[in-house]
Amino acid sequence: MASAIVGLQFGDEGKGKVIDLLSPDFTHIVRAQGGNNAGHSVIANDKEYHFHLIPSGVLYKHTKCYLGAGVVIDPEGLENELLQLKEDQVNIEGRFFISKYAHVVFPFHKLLDKASERKKSSSAIGTTGKGIGPCYTDRAARVGMRVADLLDEVVFESMSKTLLESKNKQLSLLGCDPVDASSFYEACAHYKKLLKPFASDVEQDIFYDIDPSKVLLEGAQGTFLDGLFGTYPFVTSSNTCMAGVCLGSGFPPTAIRSVIGVVKAYTTRVGNGFLVTEFEEEEKGVLGDNVSVRETGTTTGRDRRMGWLDLVMLRYAIRLNGVTSLALTKLDILDHVEEIKICTAYEIGGTHSEIFPASTTELKSAKPVYEKFDGWVSSTKECKKQDDLPEKALNFLARIEEFCEVPIKIVSVGPEREKVIQSCDLSKRKISV
Ligand code: GDP
Ligand code: IMO
Ligand code: MG
Repeated sequence: MASAIVGLQFGDEGKGKVIDLLSPDFTHIVRAQGGNNAGHSVIANDKEYHFHLIPSGVLYKHTKCYLGAGVVIDPEGLENELLQLKEDQVNIEGRFFISKYAHVVFPFHKLLDKASERKKSSSAIGTTGKGIGPCYTDRAARVGMRVADLLDEVVFESMSKTLLESKNKQLSLLGCDPVDASSFYEACAHYKKLLKPFASDVEQDIFYDIDPSKVLLEGAQGTFLDGLFGTYPFVTSSNTCMAGVCLGSGFPPTAIRSVIGVVKAYTTRVGNGFLVTEFEEEEKGVLGDNVSVRETGTTTGRDRRMGWLDLVMLRYAIRLNGVTSLALTKLDILDHVEEIKICTAYEIGGTHSEIFPASTTELKSAKPVYEKFDGWVSSTKECKKQDDLPEKALNFLARIEEFCEVPIKIVSVGPEREKVIQSCDLSKRKISV
Protein backbone atom coordinates (compact mmCIF):
# COMPACT_ATOMS: atom_id res chain seq x y z
CA MET A 1 0.00 0.00 0.00
CA ALA A 2 1.39 3.38 -1.08
CA SER A 3 1.71 6.74 0.69
CA ALA A 4 0.89 10.22 -0.53
CA ILE A 5 1.72 13.78 0.44
CA VAL A 6 -0.76 16.61 -0.12
CA GLY A 7 -0.88 20.32 0.71
CA LEU A 8 -3.73 21.33 3.03
CA GLN A 9 -3.76 25.10 2.49
CA PHE A 10 -3.02 27.30 -0.55
CA GLY A 11 0.20 25.58 -1.64
CA ASP A 12 3.75 26.27 -0.43
CA GLU A 13 3.15 24.40 2.83
CA GLY A 14 6.65 22.90 2.68
CA LYS A 15 5.73 19.75 0.72
CA GLY A 16 9.16 19.70 -0.98
CA LYS A 17 10.95 19.54 2.36
CA VAL A 18 8.68 16.74 3.66
CA ILE A 19 8.95 14.70 0.44
CA ASP A 20 12.75 14.95 0.54
CA LEU A 21 12.72 13.97 4.20
CA LEU A 22 10.60 10.84 3.64
CA SER A 23 12.15 9.73 0.34
CA PRO A 24 14.76 7.40 1.92
CA ASP A 25 11.83 5.06 2.75
CA PHE A 26 10.54 4.95 -0.84
CA THR A 27 11.89 3.89 -4.20
CA HIS A 28 9.30 5.45 -6.54
CA ILE A 29 8.27 9.11 -6.28
CA VAL A 30 5.36 10.15 -8.51
CA ARG A 31 4.12 13.68 -9.31
CA ALA A 32 0.47 13.43 -10.33
CA GLN A 33 -0.94 16.85 -11.29
CA GLY A 34 -0.12 20.49 -11.96
CA GLY A 35 2.92 21.56 -13.89
CA ASN A 36 5.79 23.96 -13.41
CA ASN A 37 3.46 26.36 -11.63
CA ALA A 38 4.65 24.34 -8.60
CA GLY A 39 7.83 25.34 -6.79
CA HIS A 40 9.18 22.96 -4.16
CA SER A 41 12.27 23.93 -2.15
CA VAL A 42 14.68 21.54 -0.53
CA ILE A 43 17.79 22.42 1.45
CA ALA A 44 20.17 19.51 1.81
CA ASN A 45 23.93 19.18 2.14
CA ASP A 46 24.27 22.98 2.47
CA LYS A 47 22.67 23.51 -0.92
CA GLU A 48 19.26 24.88 -1.90
CA TYR A 49 17.28 23.21 -4.69
CA HIS A 50 14.04 24.34 -6.36
CA PHE A 51 11.92 21.80 -8.20
CA HIS A 52 9.02 22.71 -10.46
CA LEU A 53 8.33 19.55 -12.44
CA ILE A 54 11.00 17.15 -11.19
CA PRO A 55 9.80 15.24 -8.11
CA SER A 56 11.35 16.43 -4.84
CA GLY A 57 12.72 12.96 -3.99
CA VAL A 58 15.26 13.17 -6.82
CA LEU A 59 18.26 13.97 -4.60
CA TYR A 60 18.62 10.36 -3.43
CA LYS A 61 20.41 8.03 -5.83
CA HIS A 62 18.07 5.10 -5.16
CA THR A 63 14.80 6.83 -6.17
CA LYS A 64 13.01 6.58 -9.50
CA CYS A 65 11.05 9.73 -10.29
CA TYR A 66 7.90 9.88 -12.39
CA LEU A 67 5.66 12.54 -13.91
CA GLY A 68 2.21 10.96 -14.07
CA ALA A 69 -0.58 11.31 -16.61
CA GLY A 70 -2.19 14.25 -14.80
CA VAL A 71 0.91 16.46 -14.97
CA VAL A 72 1.14 19.06 -17.74
CA ILE A 73 4.65 19.18 -19.18
CA ASP A 74 6.31 22.38 -20.35
CA PRO A 75 9.31 21.03 -22.29
CA GLU A 76 11.17 24.35 -22.03
CA GLY A 77 10.72 24.51 -18.26
CA LEU A 78 11.70 20.86 -17.98
CA GLU A 79 14.85 21.39 -20.04
CA ASN A 80 15.95 24.21 -17.72
CA GLU A 81 15.42 22.01 -14.68
CA LEU A 82 17.34 19.14 -16.24
CA LEU A 83 20.24 21.49 -16.97
CA GLN A 84 20.16 22.77 -13.39
CA LEU A 85 20.24 19.20 -12.06
CA LYS A 86 23.26 18.49 -14.24
CA GLU A 87 24.98 21.58 -12.90
CA ASP A 88 24.17 20.39 -9.36
CA GLN A 89 25.65 16.98 -10.24
CA VAL A 90 22.39 15.11 -9.64
CA ASN A 91 22.42 12.21 -12.08
CA ILE A 92 18.94 11.18 -13.29
CA GLU A 93 20.01 8.67 -15.92
CA GLY A 94 17.65 5.68 -15.92
CA ARG A 95 15.56 7.10 -13.09
CA PHE A 96 13.31 9.78 -14.57
CA PHE A 97 10.16 8.93 -16.53
CA ILE A 98 7.22 10.80 -18.06
CA SER A 99 3.76 9.35 -18.69
CA LYS A 100 2.76 9.18 -22.34
CA TYR A 101 -0.72 10.36 -21.27
CA ALA A 102 0.61 13.66 -19.90
CA HIS A 103 -0.38 16.75 -21.89
CA VAL A 104 2.20 19.14 -23.32
CA VAL A 105 2.30 22.86 -22.52
CA PHE A 106 3.17 24.83 -25.67
CA PRO A 107 4.36 28.44 -25.92
CA PHE A 108 0.86 29.54 -27.06
CA HIS A 109 -0.56 28.24 -23.76
CA LYS A 110 1.76 30.56 -21.84
CA LEU A 111 0.90 33.51 -24.12
CA LEU A 112 -2.84 32.83 -23.69
CA ASP A 113 -2.46 32.54 -19.90
CA LYS A 114 -0.72 35.91 -19.62
CA ALA A 115 -3.00 37.65 -22.15
CA SER A 116 -6.21 36.49 -20.48
CA GLU A 117 -4.91 37.64 -17.09
CA ARG A 118 -4.12 41.06 -18.58
CA LYS A 119 -7.62 41.26 -20.05
CA LYS A 120 -9.28 40.43 -16.72
CA SER A 121 -7.17 43.16 -15.04
CA SER A 122 -8.72 43.75 -11.59
CA SER A 123 -10.48 40.35 -11.54
CA ALA A 124 -7.31 38.48 -12.55
CA ILE A 125 -6.59 35.17 -10.77
CA GLY A 126 -2.92 36.03 -10.33
CA THR A 127 -1.75 32.89 -12.15
CA THR A 128 1.89 31.91 -12.45
CA GLY A 129 1.71 32.59 -16.22
CA LYS A 130 3.02 29.08 -16.97
CA GLY A 131 0.18 28.17 -19.35
CA ILE A 132 -1.36 25.69 -16.91
CA GLY A 133 -5.02 26.80 -17.28
CA PRO A 134 -5.00 26.95 -21.12
CA CYS A 135 -3.31 23.53 -21.32
CA TYR A 136 -5.88 21.86 -19.04
CA THR A 137 -8.62 23.70 -20.95
CA ASP A 138 -7.44 22.04 -24.16
CA ARG A 139 -7.34 18.68 -22.41
CA ALA A 140 -10.96 19.09 -21.27
CA ALA A 141 -11.98 20.28 -24.75
CA ARG A 142 -10.27 17.20 -26.24
CA VAL A 143 -7.99 19.22 -28.50
CA GLY A 144 -4.78 19.12 -26.44
CA MET A 145 -1.69 17.14 -27.35
CA ARG A 146 -0.33 14.37 -25.13
CA VAL A 147 3.30 13.25 -25.01
CA ALA A 148 2.15 10.11 -26.90
CA ASP A 149 0.67 12.31 -29.65
CA LEU A 150 3.72 14.55 -29.93
CA LEU A 151 5.93 11.48 -30.40
CA ASP A 152 3.66 9.85 -32.98
CA GLU A 153 4.46 11.27 -36.45
CA VAL A 154 1.04 10.48 -37.92
CA VAL A 155 -0.99 11.84 -35.02
CA PHE A 156 1.24 14.90 -34.67
CA GLU A 157 0.83 15.66 -38.37
CA SER A 158 -2.95 15.43 -38.19
CA MET A 159 -3.38 17.43 -34.95
CA SER A 160 -0.74 20.15 -34.99
CA LYS A 161 -1.98 22.35 -37.84
CA THR A 162 -5.53 22.62 -36.48
CA LEU A 163 -4.25 23.17 -32.95
CA LEU A 164 -1.89 25.97 -33.97
CA GLU A 165 -4.57 27.67 -36.12
CA SER A 166 -7.16 27.62 -33.36
CA LYS A 167 -4.70 28.91 -30.71
CA ASN A 168 -3.59 31.69 -33.05
CA LYS A 169 -7.26 32.72 -33.47
CA GLN A 170 -7.63 32.89 -29.69
CA LEU A 171 -4.42 34.91 -29.42
CA SER A 172 -5.62 37.42 -31.99
CA LEU A 173 -8.95 37.83 -30.14
CA LEU A 174 -6.88 38.78 -27.09
CA GLY A 175 -4.88 41.28 -29.16
CA CYS A 176 -1.70 39.17 -29.29
CA ASP A 177 0.57 38.33 -32.21
CA PRO A 178 0.17 34.81 -33.60
CA VAL A 179 2.79 32.12 -33.08
CA ASP A 180 4.79 31.74 -36.25
CA ALA A 181 4.30 28.27 -37.81
CA SER A 182 7.95 27.60 -38.63
CA SER A 183 9.15 28.46 -35.11
CA PHE A 184 6.35 26.27 -33.69
CA TYR A 185 7.40 23.24 -35.76
CA GLU A 186 11.06 23.85 -34.99
CA ALA A 187 10.25 23.95 -31.26
CA CYS A 188 8.14 20.77 -31.52
CA ALA A 189 11.04 18.92 -33.18
CA HIS A 190 13.19 19.94 -30.21
CA TYR A 191 10.53 18.87 -27.68
CA LYS A 192 10.27 15.44 -29.33
CA LYS A 193 14.01 14.89 -28.95
CA LEU A 194 13.94 16.08 -25.37
CA LEU A 195 10.92 14.03 -24.20
CA LYS A 196 11.42 10.78 -26.13
CA PRO A 197 14.06 9.23 -23.85
CA PHE A 198 11.83 9.78 -20.78
CA ALA A 199 8.43 8.79 -22.20
CA SER A 200 7.24 5.55 -20.65
CA ASP A 201 4.28 3.50 -19.49
CA VAL A 202 4.41 5.02 -16.01
CA GLU A 203 0.99 3.76 -14.89
CA GLN A 204 1.88 0.16 -15.67
CA ASP A 205 5.43 0.38 -14.27
CA ILE A 206 4.44 1.79 -10.90
CA PHE A 207 1.58 -0.58 -10.37
CA TYR A 208 2.73 -3.90 -11.77
CA ASP A 209 6.48 -3.93 -11.42
CA ILE A 210 7.15 -2.87 -7.85
CA ASP A 211 6.18 -3.13 -4.22
CA PRO A 212 3.40 -0.50 -3.80
CA SER A 213 4.57 0.24 -0.24
CA LYS A 214 7.64 1.81 -1.84
CA VAL A 215 5.58 4.34 -3.84
CA LEU A 216 5.25 7.94 -2.66
CA LEU A 217 2.74 10.11 -4.52
CA GLU A 218 3.75 13.78 -4.51
CA GLY A 219 0.90 16.28 -4.54
CA ALA A 220 1.48 19.79 -5.84
CA GLN A 221 -0.34 23.04 -4.92
CA GLY A 222 -2.81 22.80 -2.02
CA THR A 223 -6.39 21.78 -1.24
CA PHE A 224 -7.85 25.30 -1.49
CA LEU A 225 -6.36 25.74 -4.97
CA ASP A 226 -8.25 22.62 -6.14
CA GLY A 227 -10.28 23.38 -9.28
CA LEU A 228 -13.42 21.92 -7.66
CA PHE A 229 -13.16 22.38 -3.88
CA GLY A 230 -10.84 25.40 -3.79
CA THR A 231 -11.78 29.06 -3.47
CA TYR A 232 -13.22 29.15 -6.99
CA PRO A 233 -12.51 30.96 -9.29
CA PHE A 234 -9.19 31.77 -7.56
CA VAL A 235 -7.87 28.26 -8.04
CA THR A 236 -5.57 26.34 -10.32
CA SER A 237 -6.88 24.15 -13.12
CA SER A 238 -5.98 20.73 -11.76
CA ASN A 239 -7.46 18.74 -8.89
CA THR A 240 -4.99 19.10 -6.07
CA CYS A 241 -6.89 16.92 -3.56
CA MET A 242 -6.08 13.23 -3.05
CA ALA A 243 -8.67 12.19 -5.62
CA GLY A 244 -6.76 14.23 -8.21
CA VAL A 245 -3.48 12.73 -7.05
CA CYS A 246 -4.88 9.19 -7.53
CA LEU A 247 -6.31 10.03 -10.91
CA GLY A 248 -3.21 11.80 -12.15
CA SER A 249 -0.86 9.00 -11.13
CA GLY A 250 -3.12 6.17 -12.27
CA PHE A 251 -2.83 4.79 -8.75
CA PRO A 252 -6.14 3.43 -7.40
CA PRO A 253 -7.42 4.87 -4.08
CA THR A 254 -7.68 1.36 -2.64
CA ALA A 255 -3.88 0.98 -2.97
CA ILE A 256 -3.09 3.95 -0.69
CA ARG A 257 -2.34 3.39 2.98
CA SER A 258 -1.29 6.72 4.34
CA VAL A 259 -2.00 10.30 3.35
CA ILE A 260 0.34 12.80 4.93
CA GLY A 261 -1.14 16.28 4.94
CA VAL A 262 1.34 19.15 5.04
CA VAL A 263 0.28 22.30 6.86
CA LYS A 264 2.16 25.46 7.83
CA ALA A 265 1.91 26.80 11.39
CA TYR A 266 0.22 29.85 9.81
CA THR A 267 -1.38 30.51 6.41
CA THR A 268 0.00 31.97 3.20
CA ARG A 269 -1.40 32.56 -0.24
CA VAL A 270 0.22 33.84 -3.43
CA GLY A 271 -2.01 35.37 -6.08
CA ASN A 272 -5.51 36.76 -5.63
CA GLY A 273 -8.48 35.28 -3.78
CA PHE A 274 -9.95 34.82 -0.32
CA LEU A 275 -7.80 34.54 2.78
CA VAL A 276 -10.11 34.82 5.79
CA THR A 277 -7.33 34.94 8.39
CA GLU A 278 -5.12 37.41 6.50
CA PHE A 279 -3.22 39.66 8.91
CA GLU A 280 -4.89 42.97 9.71
CA GLU A 281 -2.91 46.05 8.73
CA GLU A 282 -1.46 46.43 12.26
CA GLU A 283 -0.46 42.74 12.36
CA LYS A 284 1.46 42.76 9.08
CA GLY A 285 5.10 41.93 9.67
CA VAL A 286 4.35 40.09 12.94
CA LEU A 287 6.17 37.03 11.61
CA GLY A 288 8.95 38.99 9.91
CA ASP A 289 9.46 40.24 6.36
CA ASN A 290 8.73 37.96 3.39
CA VAL A 291 12.37 37.24 2.61
CA SER A 292 13.43 36.39 6.15
CA VAL A 293 10.51 33.98 6.64
CA ARG A 294 11.03 32.46 3.17
CA GLU A 295 7.62 33.59 1.91
CA THR A 296 8.45 34.74 -1.58
CA GLY A 297 7.13 32.55 -4.42
CA THR A 298 9.52 29.77 -5.52
CA THR A 299 8.14 29.98 -9.07
CA THR A 300 7.30 33.66 -9.59
CA GLY A 301 9.23 35.46 -6.84
CA ARG A 302 6.04 37.25 -5.71
CA ASP A 303 5.55 38.02 -2.01
CA ARG A 304 3.13 35.60 -0.38
CA ARG A 305 0.26 37.08 1.62
CA MET A 306 0.26 35.90 5.25
CA GLY A 307 -2.25 35.24 8.01
CA TRP A 308 -3.01 33.08 11.05
CA LEU A 309 -3.58 29.33 10.96
CA ASP A 310 -7.16 28.50 9.97
CA LEU A 311 -8.50 25.28 11.51
CA VAL A 312 -11.88 25.58 9.75
CA MET A 313 -10.01 25.12 6.49
CA LEU A 314 -7.62 22.57 7.90
CA ARG A 315 -10.31 20.26 9.25
CA TYR A 316 -12.19 20.39 5.94
CA ALA A 317 -8.98 19.69 4.00
CA ILE A 318 -8.25 16.69 6.23
CA ARG A 319 -11.69 15.27 5.45
CA LEU A 320 -11.51 15.94 1.69
CA ASN A 321 -8.12 14.24 1.43
CA GLY A 322 -8.58 11.41 3.93
CA VAL A 323 -5.46 12.59 5.76
CA THR A 324 -4.05 9.98 8.15
CA SER A 325 -1.31 12.14 9.73
CA LEU A 326 -0.07 15.72 9.66
CA ALA A 327 3.35 17.21 8.98
CA LEU A 328 3.36 20.72 10.47
CA THR A 329 6.04 23.00 9.04
CA LYS A 330 7.55 26.37 9.92
CA LEU A 331 6.89 26.17 13.65
CA ASP A 332 10.15 28.13 14.09
CA ILE A 333 8.64 31.14 12.31
CA LEU A 334 6.36 31.64 15.34
CA ASP A 335 9.32 31.48 17.76
CA HIS A 336 9.35 35.21 18.53
CA VAL A 337 5.58 35.90 18.38
CA GLU A 338 4.17 36.87 21.79
CA GLU A 339 0.52 36.15 21.08
CA ILE A 340 -0.42 33.50 18.52
CA LYS A 341 -3.91 33.16 17.07
CA ILE A 342 -5.69 30.15 15.60
CA CYS A 343 -9.02 30.52 13.80
CA THR A 344 -11.54 27.91 14.98
CA ALA A 345 -14.77 29.29 13.44
CA TYR A 346 -16.14 31.98 11.13
CA GLU A 347 -18.71 34.66 11.87
CA ILE A 348 -20.83 34.94 8.72
CA GLY A 349 -23.72 37.45 8.70
CA GLY A 350 -23.94 37.29 12.50
CA THR A 351 -23.95 33.48 12.54
CA HIS A 352 -21.22 31.34 14.08
CA SER A 353 -20.07 28.64 11.65
CA GLU A 354 -17.42 25.92 11.55
CA ILE A 355 -18.22 25.12 7.92
CA PHE A 356 -15.96 26.38 5.12
CA PRO A 357 -18.46 28.08 2.77
CA ALA A 358 -18.72 27.40 -0.96
CA SER A 359 -20.45 30.77 -1.47
CA THR A 360 -18.17 33.57 -2.64
CA THR A 361 -20.34 36.14 -0.86
CA GLU A 362 -20.09 34.24 2.42
CA LEU A 363 -16.33 33.78 2.07
CA LYS A 364 -15.93 37.50 1.39
CA SER A 365 -17.85 38.44 4.53
CA ALA A 366 -16.49 35.69 6.82
CA LYS A 367 -14.81 37.07 9.95
CA PRO A 368 -12.38 34.78 11.75
CA VAL A 369 -13.11 33.74 15.35
CA TYR A 370 -9.79 33.26 17.12
CA GLU A 371 -8.39 31.34 20.06
CA LYS A 372 -5.33 33.08 21.46
CA PHE A 373 -2.20 31.37 22.73
CA ASP A 374 0.79 32.68 24.64
CA GLY A 375 3.83 32.42 22.41
CA TRP A 376 6.83 30.40 23.63
CA VAL A 377 9.21 33.24 22.67
CA SER A 378 12.28 31.03 22.43
CA SER A 379 14.00 29.22 19.61
CA THR A 380 12.76 25.82 18.42
CA LYS A 381 15.31 25.64 15.62
CA GLU A 382 17.66 23.27 17.43
CA CYS A 383 14.94 20.96 18.79
CA LYS A 384 15.55 17.38 17.68
CA LYS A 385 12.85 15.52 19.59
CA GLN A 386 9.40 16.33 20.91
CA ASP A 387 10.56 16.79 24.51
CA ASP A 388 13.01 19.50 23.40
CA LEU A 389 10.08 21.74 22.37
CA PRO A 390 8.94 24.47 24.79
CA GLU A 391 5.80 23.60 26.78
CA LYS A 392 3.80 26.39 25.09
CA ALA A 393 4.73 25.14 21.63
CA LEU A 394 3.56 21.63 22.60
CA ASN A 395 0.32 23.15 23.87
CA PHE A 396 -0.20 24.92 20.51
CA LEU A 397 0.42 21.68 18.59
CA ALA A 398 -1.81 19.63 20.89
CA ARG A 399 -4.71 22.04 20.36
CA ILE A 400 -4.39 21.71 16.58
CA GLU A 401 -4.35 17.94 16.88
CA GLU A 402 -7.34 17.92 19.23
CA PHE A 403 -9.41 20.14 16.91
CA CYS A 404 -8.51 18.21 13.77
CA GLU A 405 -8.61 14.70 15.25
CA VAL A 406 -5.57 13.61 13.24
CA PRO A 407 -2.12 13.04 14.78
CA ILE A 408 0.73 15.45 14.07
CA LYS A 409 3.64 13.10 13.45
CA ILE A 410 6.21 15.44 11.91
CA VAL A 411 7.12 18.97 13.05
CA SER A 412 9.53 20.99 10.93
CA VAL A 413 11.60 23.70 12.64
CA GLY A 414 13.74 25.02 9.79
CA PRO A 415 14.12 24.75 6.03
CA GLU A 416 17.09 22.37 6.16
CA ARG A 417 16.57 18.61 5.81
CA GLU A 418 17.77 17.88 9.35
CA LYS A 419 15.67 20.56 11.09
CA VAL A 420 12.79 18.29 11.95
CA ILE A 421 11.16 16.31 14.76
CA GLN A 422 9.77 12.93 13.70
CA SER A 423 7.59 10.32 15.43
CA CYS A 424 5.72 12.92 17.50
CA ASP A 425 3.02 11.70 19.86
CA LEU A 426 0.86 14.44 21.40
CA SER A 427 -2.10 12.24 22.21
CA LYS A 428 -1.75 12.36 26.01
CA ARG A 429 -1.23 16.10 26.46
CA LYS A 430 -3.68 18.35 28.33
CA ILE A 431 -4.38 21.64 26.58
CA SER A 432 -4.76 25.13 28.03
CA VAL A 433 -6.10 28.00 25.88
P1 GDP B 1 6.09 23.69 -1.25
O1 GDP B 1 5.64 24.30 -2.51
O2 GDP B 1 4.95 23.15 -0.43
O3 GDP B 1 7.17 22.66 -1.44
O4 GDP B 1 6.73 24.86 -0.38
P2 GDP B 1 7.81 25.95 -0.89
O5 GDP B 1 9.12 25.29 -0.99
O6 GDP B 1 7.29 26.66 -2.10
O7 GDP B 1 7.75 27.01 0.27
C1 GDP B 1 8.10 26.69 1.59
C2 GDP B 1 9.27 27.58 2.02
O8 GDP B 1 9.48 27.42 3.41
C3 GDP B 1 10.58 27.16 1.35
O9 GDP B 1 11.40 28.30 1.23
C4 GDP B 1 11.17 26.17 2.34
O10 GDP B 1 12.59 26.08 2.25
C5 GDP B 1 10.76 26.79 3.65
N1 GDP B 1 10.53 25.85 4.76
C6 GDP B 1 9.99 24.60 4.72
N2 GDP B 1 9.87 24.11 5.97
C7 GDP B 1 10.34 25.06 6.82
C8 GDP B 1 10.44 25.17 8.24
O11 GDP B 1 10.06 24.29 9.00
N3 GDP B 1 10.96 26.34 8.73
C9 GDP B 1 11.38 27.36 7.92
N4 GDP B 1 11.86 28.45 8.49
N5 GDP B 1 11.29 27.28 6.59
C10 GDP B 1 10.76 26.16 6.04
P1 IMO C 1 3.25 24.53 -4.94
O1 IMO C 1 3.25 23.14 -5.49
C1 IMO C 1 1.19 28.33 -4.38
C2 IMO C 1 -1.57 29.60 -7.53
C3 IMO C 1 -1.19 30.82 -8.32
C4 IMO C 1 -2.57 31.39 -8.60
C5 IMO C 1 -3.41 30.14 -8.84
C6 IMO C 1 -3.61 29.80 -10.30
O2 IMO C 1 4.57 25.20 -4.95
O3 IMO C 1 2.57 24.56 -3.61
P2 IMO C 1 -1.96 28.76 -12.13
O4 IMO C 1 -0.67 29.27 -12.68
O5 IMO C 1 -1.85 27.43 -11.47
O6 IMO C 1 -3.08 28.81 -13.11
O7 IMO C 1 -2.37 29.83 -10.98
O8 IMO C 1 -2.72 29.09 -8.19
N1 IMO C 1 -0.56 28.51 -7.51
C7 IMO C 1 0.21 28.24 -6.44
N2 IMO C 1 0.32 28.86 -5.26
N3 IMO C 1 1.90 27.21 -4.61
C8 IMO C 1 1.78 26.55 -5.78
O9 IMO C 1 2.37 25.35 -6.01
C9 IMO C 1 0.94 27.08 -6.79
N4 IMO C 1 0.60 26.70 -8.04
C10 IMO C 1 -0.32 27.57 -8.47
O10 IMO C 1 -0.40 31.71 -7.56
O11 IMO C 1 -3.07 32.03 -7.45
MG1 MG D 1 5.82 26.08 -3.55
